[in-house]
Amino acid sequence: MLPSDRLSVFEWRRLVEKLDRAVAEAARLYFQRLTSRHIRIDPNRWSDELDELRLQREPDYDKPGLPLVYALKYMPRRVISTLGSLLLVLGDRHPASVLDIGSGTGSTALALDLLNSPRHISLLGIEPSREMIAFAESSRYRARVSARYEEGSVSDGTLRGLTLETFDLLVFSASFPYRFDEWAPLLDALGGYEDNIDKMILVVEPEAKVGILDSFARRLRARGWPTERLCCHDLPELIKRDDIPLKNTQEVWKRIGSPGFTPPRTWWNPPDDRFLIANPNPSWPSLGESRMTRAGRPQSPVMARSGASSIQCRVGDGS
Ligand SMILES: C[S@@+](CC[C@H](N)C(=O)[O-])C[C@H]1O[C@@H](n2cnc3c(N)ncnc32)[C@H](O)[C@@H]1O
Repeated sequence: MLPSDRLSVFEWRRLVEKLDRAVAEAARLYFQRLTSRHIRIDPNRWSDELDELRLQREPDYDKPGLPLVYALKYMPRRVISTLGSLLLVLGDRHPASVLDIGSGTGSTALALDLLNSPRHISLLGIEPSREMIAFAESSRYRARVSARYEEGSVSDGTLRGLTLETFDLLVFSASFPYRFDEWAPLLDALGGYEDNIDKMILVVEPEAKVGILDSFARRLRARGWPTERLCCHDLPELIKRDDIPLKNTQEVWKRIGSPGFTPPRTWWNPPDDRFLIANPNPSWPSLGESRMTRAGRPQSPVMARSGASSIQCRVGDGS
């Protein structure tokens, strides 16, 4: 497992190289599949559609080809943001099963893989866009995570159809659409804290969607969930550097005509991501312990976060 507060420059470089190869390989495979489906290759049109995000509107993620430009432009950043927050909050805890809601092109699976956890992780991604799933399934570069993806969304009752008790960690990484206001199906599926002491929820959203994070936090707390907030400045310093070029990813980006003009990068300023962690001290089994044997084990009293002393901007819960 990567150390959260002592990540060396060497480890960081190795991690960025792995991220670069993973995104580039998935992009190449997805591109080949587009070609064999006789999809017209039009990266600039996909990039224009993706620009809707900058206008705080939702692009059509189901446009064949759009996930390619999404992945080249945003995936490295999303992976680093999720990885950084997990490094801070996990400490020496290791989730075994993860539900990734709004899984998109598979950033969470890749972040978990880069975490290099001693416990193998199985991940289920729930995603409304088949095209985003097609990209996520093009990713074969995973040693520590087995991922599968299903069509569904937070609004259509998909979560109710799942057995949420089997998941240690629920991740929402930039998943909420702008102006999201369909809380009932999500909160009904999640339930109250007393039924979920063995479940952590991590929500990552850019600053522009902080209102959604505030609403979610308030609603979770009303159901008894303890919550914690972080912002991008709390993440380990090293991972906020973007001085290691993503050679492989940039090569794919150039080959398809450099859509959007900005080359793929791991970080950007200001990324201004905000994080909500519900139940930061879940009663997960320790290594060597099974879900059955952990029942009755007391919860750890404090958040076992080795980087806690460096927290700079733990923000209020917006209530
Ligand atoms: C900005 S992308 C983020 C993708 C991925 N989680 C990441 O970190 O790169 C937003 C994703 O959320 C999905 N999405 C949109 N509305 C959703 C909903 N109501 N429930 C679940 N996912 C949704 C979109 O299809 C898209 O793949």
